[in-house]
Amino acid sequence: MDAYRCIVSKREVRSFLPREVPEETIRRILKAGRWSGSSVNRQPWHFVVVRDRERLAALSRFGRFSGHVAGAAFAVALVARSSRDLFDAGRCAQNMMLAGWSEGIGSCPATIQDQDGARAFLGIPEDRTLVTVLSFGYPDPRASHPIERVVRRVIVGRGRRPLESMVSWEAFGR
Ligand SMILES: Cc1cc2nc3c(=O)[nH]c(=O)nc-3n(C[C@H](O)[C@H](O)[C@H](O)COP(=O)(O)O)c2cc1C
Repeated sequence: MDAYRCIVSKREVRSFLPREVPEETIRRILKAGRWSGSSVNRQPWHFVVVRDRERLAALSRFGRFSGHVAGAAFAVALVARSSRDLFDAGRCAQNMMLAGWSEGIGSCPATIQDQDGARAFLGIPEDRTLVTVLSFGYPDPRASHPIERVVRRVIVGRGRRPLESMVSWEAFGR
């Protein structure tokens, strides 16, 4: 898959087949995160990989719409040095998700509302920021996760606003 097709075809996947992802593939995904650019090349991230089924189920309970983590083959908790590093962390997260997508592995971010609970569960030091949890796995094309229905209702469809509504040329609003 070429890079442009990978980017524009990437949709969130929340239902996964009960199939392991080889460790080599997991490492390739993590390396895609590792190679992300960051402000003054600080690389302000740490990846906590969770594969244990019981731990995935437990991790899935720390967010309101994070149930999809329970069925993932693995999850990556993305930890940043501080809340100032969110732009870098976003680039890093998307690189990992696109690297997975290019190899047929679906993914979806999970926002963690119960930060204290998740941080304690993952052993994240006090001076670090838990940015998000990414679920990864082979897509189950026949299943539709219950969260999907909620997200669809809340977010209205799965398309994108027209390009004209988000682009100005030379100055905002033109
Ligand atoms: C910062 C951020 C937080 C998100 N949190 C969640 C979440 O908690 N649960 C979930 O199911 N999807 C979550 N998503 C996925 C969005 O709902 C998704 O990117 C959006 O609806 C577009 O989906 P699509 O690319 O499949 O069309 C999150 C996405 C982002 C960028």
